[in-house]
Amino acid sequence: MPPPPPPPPPPPLLLLILLLVMQIVGGGVRLASAAATPPGQLHSRNDTGTRNSAANSSIGVLLLSASSDQVVIDNGLLQVAISLPGGDVTGVQYNGLDNVLDVLNDDDNRGYWDVVWNLPGHDIIFDRVHGATYEIVSESSDQIEISFSRMWNISTNDIFVPMNIDKRYIFRSGCSGFYSYAIFNRPEGWPDIEMDQVRIVYKLREEKFHYMALSDDRQRFMPTARDRSTGLALAYPEAVLLTNPEDQEFRGEVDDKYQYSIENQYNRVHGWICDNPPTGFWMITPSDEFKTAGPVKQDLTSHVGPITLSMFVSTHYAGKEVGIKFSNVEAWSKVFGPVFVYLNSASPEDGSSSLWEDAKRQMYEEVNIWPYDFTACDDFPTAEQRGSVVGQLIVHDGYVSEQDMYGASAYVGLAAPGPAGSWQRENKGYQFWTRANKMGLFEIEKVRAGDYNLYAWVPGFIGDYKYDTNITITPGCSINLGTLVYKPPRHGPTLWEIGIPDRTAAEFFVPSPYPTLMNDLYTNNRKNRFRQYGLWDRYVDLYQEHDLIFTVGTDNYRKDWFYAQVTRNAGNTTYRATTFQIVFELEQVNDMSTYYLQLALASAMESDLQVRFNNASVEPAHFSTGAIGQDNAIARHGIHGLYWLYGIEVPSFQLHGGTNTIYLTQASAKNPFQGVMYDYIRLEGPPEA
Ligand SMILES: *[C@@H]1O[C@H](CO)[C@@H](O)[C@H](O)[C@H]1NC(C)=O
Ligand SMILES: *[C@@H]1O[C@H](CO)[C@@H](O)[C@H](O)[C@H]1NC(C)=O
Ligand SMILES: *[C@@H]1O[C@H](CO)[C@@H](O)[C@H](O)[C@H]1NC(C)=O
Ligand SMILES: *[C@@H]1O[C@H](CO)[C@@H](O)[C@H](O)[C@H]1NC(C)=O
Ligand SMILES: *[C@@H]1O[C@H](CO)[C@@H](O)[C@H](O)[C@H]1NC(C)=O
Ligand SMILES: *[C@@H]1O[C@H](CO)[C@@H](O)[C@H](O)[C@H]1NC(C)=O
Repeated sequence: MPPPPPPPPPPPLLLLILLLVMQIVGGGVRLASAAATPPGQLHSRNDTGTRNSAANSSIGVLLLSASSDQVVIDNGLLQVAISLPGGDVTGVQYNGLDNVLDVLNDDDNRGYWDVVWNLPGHDIIFDRVHGATYEIVSESSDQIEISFSRMWNISTNDIFVPMNIDKRYIFRSGCSGFYSYAIFNRPEGWPDIEMDQVRIVYKLREEKFHYMALSDDRQRFMPTARDRSTGLALAYPEAVLLTNPEDQEFRGEVDDKYQYSIENQYNRVHGWICDNPPTGFWMITPSDEFKTAGPVKQDLTSHVGPITLSMFVSTHYAGKEVGIKFSNVEAWSKVFGPVFVYLNSASPEDGSSSLWEDAKRQMYEEVNIWPYDFTACDDFPTAEQRGSVVGQLIVHDGYVSEQDMYGASAYVGLAAPGPAGSWQRENKGYQFWTRANKMGLFEIEKVRAGDYNLYAWVPGFIGDYKYDTNITITPGCSINLGTLVYKPPRHGPTLWEIGIPDRTAAEFFVPSPYPTLMNDLYTNNRKNRFRQYGLWDRYVDLYQEHDLIFTVGTDNYRKDWFYAQVTRNAGNTTYRATTFQIVFELEQVNDMSTYYLQLALASAMESDLQVRFNNASVEPAHFSTGAIGQDNAIARHGIHGLYWLYGIEVPSFQLHGGTNTIYLTQASAKNPFQGVMYDYIRLEGPPEA
């Protein structure tokens, strides 16, 4: 997480009053809100004697009214309409806008949850999750929580994912937004399934929301869905060249939703801004504990539509191997969220420029009060019901330093028990991660009770640490693990190395995009250049005659190592395998000894990486990864996908005094998106006595 927030600006009280006045003037709002209902006075109706009916209740400044097909919640700041009993958000009235959601869409296509799943070996099914039963699960003077649940039964097999799903919304008085989460559960005995995606989707009004913001340096005016439909689909349908946009400013740009992905650890707030009236719509994710596959898993955020997503489960940048697989002997339940939909506004004089800063301020506020103490969910523990773990991570690598080193900035996390590194594919439980400080000191707070392993990896070192004892978190526990020592894989002294072991290919050469295929957002943003479209094709431009040859000692990996080992476009939609060569000198080779090649990959897509020493054609190769990877990071502009580490034994007879060559052949070549990204390569000499 970024450092603690700056002090929040003064509360927008004036704004609030202005807002109320605007709503009154604007009409359309039932005035049974803040102004009309004396605070604290209870108007709860109990006429039906059940919490499972379309009753109306007005509590404090919150008003809930229900008709046969919708429930409307109004807290004086905003008014949200939700379909009955489906639980789709159909309307959000705010800041004089009678609906910020796309009114041209059907009711069930504006704000909804969906799941992508399949029976093993069968086609995938898109299941837009509609509730069957509506219920008010809690109400107090300043809060209402409502539930829309769907119980699965065998007669709905093949349509609905075999899962009981309870979608919840929480409205609070004085709160300019609403919370959303869902409880998924399935008992033993239900069919085997695979569930590859769970998300929330909001579709906003196209004529209103034009500016999108994901971070301080990733925000821009955006083209429209229509601009995409009149454009030219590129190598895959998500990437479109805008040839005839309404706003000529976008002509010739590429739009692709994957250019707006973010790692889980940094995905805290993103959304859209409307200029007139100045209004923001934000998805705030205070914690990534409920997301799958750990802190560096990347996913979609907001994109042309205008659309704002909250992705809980996906295979993006990882592949089907991180999709969730359930067998019928397994009971499971999980709470996804809560996430917070935040709306903000500014006066016309101030304009919309302050809205992103205010959204960040609100994000820090949500982060600070996480875990929320106001859900009516038995399976969402409050801070007191959670535990913490502290310790210090030390790195011992005698070939780097005789003295132990601090595990500076280490990623340290708790995830379901498994082998070292298994967290990057773990997808059924909760994960809790932190970054150690410069001295390797770490504290993982607010951890749900349960059994975990403690995992870590340290930027600057290869491999994965795992603490060898299981860790059981109990409510209120505070575990001090003391000093933990990580010994990264190492067999001998470094003879040479290429890159930085940080699980990305960002330090390598990222080419400029084709000038005719740019996203202007990244034109002057070197750090994010890898998000440009079509970079894979630049390889053949740069290496027309032969594949990449890297000479240790003279070449610089920042300029001379292409960020991805892609296939060679051989024309006529045919592709050829490529072979990168590493050329290096050895003064002498110790007979009857063993060298080691440490090969760390930052990504793999339908690849088979073969390694040969001093013989480009020996069969079988001296080493092969076999078929690996489905992360699609090349096509989707990730600078990494999943991490793969190979320690390859090199018997001394494969090397010789003088010039040696390592041939790295990516042998699977059917399309332009196959290939690997390297994280780091190191040749180690024989162990020193
Ligand atoms: C409201 O309804 C509940 C559930 O039937 C009942 O237990 C409770 O006594 C009622 N409260 C009032 C004030 O009537
Ligand atoms: C709830 O409120 C709506 C809108 O004000 C009204 O039409 C409906 O009759 C009310 N329902 C009940 C049960 O009072
Ligand atoms: C099964 O679910 C369907 C759809 O929700 C419902 O119509 C049906 O009544 C349910 N059957 C049983 C036996 O619960
Ligand atoms: C750790 O937990 C896992 C999963 O519950 C279990 O399989 C394993 O045996 C445990 N290991 C130890 C050392 O207790
Ligand atoms: C591509 O295919 C066409 C038609 O089969 C053929 O004439 C042409 O020579 C091919 N070009 C290349 C570079 O192989
Ligand atoms: C490379 O390996 C092949 C197959 O083992 C062998 O026939 C060939 O002589 C080797 N080439 C060199 C230069 O050693």
